[in-house]
Amino acid sequence: MSKFKYNNILLTGAAGALGKQLRKTLSQNCNLLKISDKEKLQKKFENEEVNLADLSSAEAMIHLTKNIDCVVHMGGQSIEGSWNNVLNSNIIGMYNLYEGCRKNNVKRVIWASSVHTVGFYPRSEVIDSKVTPRPDSNYGLSKVFGESLAQYYWDKYKIETVSVRIYSCLAEPKDHRILSTWLSYDDLRSLILASINSSNVQHSIIFGVSNNDSVLIDNKYAKHIGYKPKDNAEEFRSLIEKKDGFIDSSDPLVTTHGGYFASSGHFDD
Ligand SMILES: NC(=O)c1ccc[n+]([C@@H]2O[C@H](COP(=O)([O-])OP(=O)(O)OC[C@H]3O[C@@H](n4cnc5c(N)ncnc54)[C@H](O)[C@@H]3O)[C@@H](O)[C@H]2O)c1
Repeated sequence: MSKFKYNNILLTGAAGALGKQLRKTLSQNCNLLKISDKEKLQKKFENEEVNLADLSSAEAMIHLTKNIDCVVHMGGQSIEGSWNNVLNSNIIGMYNLYEGCRKNNVKRVIWASSVHTVGFYPRSEVIDSKVTPRPDSNYGLSKVFGESLAQYYWDKYKIETVSVRIYSCLAEPKDHRILSTWLSYDDLRSLILASINSSNVQHSIIFGVSNNDSVLIDNKYAKHIGYKPKDNAEEFRSLIEKKDGFIDSSDPLVTTHGGYFASSGHFDD
């Protein structure tokens, strides 16, 4: 019997900021780690297999998901962008990926959704994962589509998904908003591993934040995943206040969960 929950894992977006943070941990937790991106990648760990693939190609996604048990999906347009980019990478790309999973009997997907699915909630409101989505951008809208797609593929085809609504995943918090939205790299790795190893997730939505003193979310509906964050953005407060001064509570950066994504205009204008 294998010591791993899933023998073969696919990591998309492996050339990106978060993909890079996950390669070592994932390679240590499976037999085969397929890594893919539309950008060039170098093999780094013994059990990695490198694949160049664009999410917008249905054919490429069917090929990529062959012989895979679990997908960690970090690929895609990762900030607000033109409608065309968002459509191709996050909407068509997400559909292509799940169709590949369905055709190749992939059991579970763990993917990076976003704070921007709920970006218009005021910062004064602590939200749980059952609130109605309030996307703040084309990008946020595409992530809402992704979460609905995940629910549909669970209900209809029994592919399990953990949608991780990542708030701000960075090495260190860099401004006032991130004091409440920070997800450290260590906590990201532990969240992804918990999502892989949890026994029954159906379609679960979990907020990806660290153990920050300043709290905007309540993960009460995701306790079964067993994620235990350790880091706390508070230790960076004095540095941020020294750098940026105190912030006015009416600054758009801190009036909503989504920050400047919620206050900026249409990307294509
Ligand atoms: N970093 C954060 O704080 C944060 C917050 C919320 C959500 N997320 C989500 O997490 C995921 C990873 O974020 P990141 O910060 O590493 O972003 P990133 O931009 O550094 O990485 C994304 C990767 O996806 C690849 N990609 C983009 N379009 C593609 C396509 N059509 N086909 C194949 N590959 C494609 C890019 O080449 C890139 O390597 C993204 O889905 C992003 O939306 C990140």
